[in-house]
Amino acid sequence: MKKEFKIVICGGGSTYTAGIVKNLLEEEELKIKELWLYDIDQERQEKVSLIVKEVVKDLRPSLELKISTDEEEAFTDADFIMAQMRVGGLKMRVKDEQISLKHGCIGQETCGAGGMAYGMRTIGPMVHLIDVCEKYASKTYWIVNYSNPAAIVAKATQTLRPNARILNICDMPVEVEARMAEILDTDLSNLEVDYFGLNHYGWFTKVQCNGEDVTEKLKKHVAEYGYVSKASYEDALVKDPDWLHTFTNAKKIVNYFPDYLPNTYWQYYLLGDDIVDYMDINNTRGMQVIHGRETKIREAVKKLENGEKIDLTQFYVGVHGKFIVEVVKALAYDTRSRQLVIVKNDGAVKNLPDDAMVEIPAYITKDGPEPVRVGEIPRFYKGLIEQQDACEGLVVEAVIEGSYKKALQAFTLNRTIPSANVAKEILDEMVEANKEYWMELK
Ligand code: G6P
Ligand code: MN
Repeated sequence: MKKEFKIVICGGGSTYTAGIVKNLLEEEELKIKELWLYDIDQERQEKVSLIVKEVVKDLRPSLELKISTDEEEAFTDADFIMAQMRVGGLKMRVKDEQISLKHGCIGQETCGAGGMAYGMRTIGPMVHLIDVCEKYASKTYWIVNYSNPAAIVAKATQTLRPNARILNICDMPVEVEARMAEILDTDLSNLEVDYFGLNHYGWFTKVQCNGEDVTEKLKKHVAEYGYVSKASYEDALVKDPDWLHTFTNAKKIVNYFPDYLPNTYWQYYLLGDDIVDYMDINNTRGMQVIHGRETKIREAVKKLENGEKIDLTQFYVGVHGKFIVEVVKALAYDTRSRQLVIVKNDGAVKNLPDDAMVEIPAYITKDGPEPVRVGEIPRFYKGLIEQQDACEGLVVEAVIEGSYKKALQAFTLNRTIPSANVAKEILDEMVEANKEYWMELK
């Protein structure tokens, strides 16, 4: 019989939980002994769990969903920890966005000043999670981490806990691949990509569909329409106007830099002026999420509390859940499935530093990722990545050392911030806003 596992979703109160659980339960090959939700916010988790219980009732009524805010209980003997914490919640996401925009800079969850501030909040709790897993979880535990900003989290956990069994991942590349599949009118599972970069900072260098090289065909489409096709208008994610805008922006990037196909996040780094114009300080992305996903959750919970039925499909968006479950399955059963994940470079990209945390293809085995060799990358891409890697490294050092100087260097080095003057102004406001979360910077 196949081995059965205890799985814990850390950040159980997230709006993504229902979708992840749906994919977990639909993956029949993955045998689940126990499924736990863990969160530090009991009230929020209890509410979200009402929806998650409906998902379980629908797909696997025999499974008992366990809910806890107690670390020892939740993590004892855990095999897989799917982490998706948002330190400071959406309230702080909005602050990150607004403080940056007030100074004319990109106000975004993971990019620029907002991403660095969020990173400085998240490093401590992520390291704590590793320590908790080392203490209570199964000796062969794996943390599969979606918590953002994944690039900074990866760099920090690699520096502070190099032996931890944590694999940092992001669904953006695979979400772009889903758009590519729509463009090509094929199934996502038929695609295989080559890719390099940092998280939210990478490029597709080759795309194959059932073994046929379709890179140039895709470039042609993207140069005209972005990552949008007729089929993608049916997709729940693309129906969100902000995401439609994002997927469309790839068009300009491919026209400027036709070597490769970009990750959508390049819009913030390469088209900063366009995006600052597009962003609205009174209706930031975080505010849209509060009014969108969060409201949906609240309304569904109210209905369930009144004994009414809810439509669960509204919580199943994109390939987010499917991807993390695929990675867990590969670690669980040594499937050697090829996925884009964030790993220590160690020569995979020949002309990048060994300690860069790069996002590249890897074969996922029971012992972790086996990265592919990427080789050398051209100067433009190398330059961009080295600058960002140095910036993210300085964020991590600023946190470890409590160093204001390093934080200011990081903010100054980031492409989305035009000068040391602006960097200092934003950093000083971020220090104030993050008093509850950051260590003191000296
Ligand atoms: C993608 C990225 C995530 C990010 C999310 C934000 O999925 O990979 O890292 O958190 O987008 O989406 P939202 O709808 O919250 O703006
Ligand atoms: Mn991501």
